[in-house]
Amino acid sequence: MRSDRVALVRDLIDGQGRLLAARGQQLSVRDVEEAARRARRAPGVLLSGSVVAEDVREPFGDPAYRHLFRSPAVQGSVSRAVLAAELPETLHQELRLLRDTDWTRYRHGLATAAIAARMLLAAVGEAQAVPDLAAAALLHDLGMRHIRPELTRAGIQLDQTTALEIASHPILGAYHLACELGSHPAVDAALGHHWRKGRGYPRLAGPPPRSVEVVAVASSFAALTQARPFRSMPFDARGATDVLVADASAGEADLESVQLLVHVLRGGGGEARRVVFGRERLGHAPQDNRHLGVAQLVATA
Ligand SMILES: [Fe+2]
Ligand SMILES: [Fe+2]
Repeated sequence: MRSDRVALVRDLIDGQGRLLAARGQQLSVRDVEEAARRARRAPGVLLSGSVVAEDVREPFGDPAYRHLFRSPAVQGSVSRAVLAAELPETLHQELRLLRDTDWTRYRHGLATAAIAARMLLAAVGEAQAVPDLAAAALLHDLGMRHIRPELTRAGIQLDQTTALEIASHPILGAYHLACELGSHPAVDAALGHHWRKGRGYPRLAGPPPRSVEVVAVASSFAALTQARPFRSMPFDARGATDVLVADASAGEADLESVQLLVHVLRGGGGEARRVVFGRERLGHAPQDNRHLGVAQLVATA
């Protein structure tokens, strides 16, 4: 079952305690669009004036990303792109709250933003749209804040019921962001980052914009390369790429976005479309990996 709606099991409340939607209410993809139409966006404030300015360089030091951010010039353009994004103060506060309460998830957003910005800068140069897309990557998992914390605790064994609850995070996040931002790439990214070419969740009327596919690939790469309780060690960059190449071959990830990732991992010379994937090699994946994805559980629910 890949539903396009969720029934709220508790009130949807933002970081300031404002009620966005009440327990029992159903939220659908259409409600997200409706909220975006209704929203009156507060003035944007540059992320260079937010807590993100203190942390934006943090992913550059991660050994898994050394090929992505190898030169000071690349690091400079990526951090400039992220910090040039403008978001309302309320979302600055959401980011601060996330940083204070859940460093792992905050860091996942940060790494996804840096990786997506690196990919987009290689694809389109310093285009005006890149900062908004970096902000979209930073906030793509905001909906996880609205999931019961016990479901996201380390080591929990998911079943179909809990997987369905976790699978509601794209709609919850997109609704929250639509109320704040109106129509914005962050809403599309929150809604579409688990779409997996129609095999993920939620069900959408059509494919998300190509930029959302870039955020989705950046998010997967960021997740695979970090420590998780269900595997003995993270994938290294090569092993994570092998997973994404296999996903693309199976029609579950966007091939061009995976090519773009491999292109920037190899230094960004030449054309991304001409990238030929290497063969899968042993020794780059964790030996013990007990991960059963939410998408698999939801698909069979
Ligand atoms: Fe997610
Ligand atoms: Fe993510």
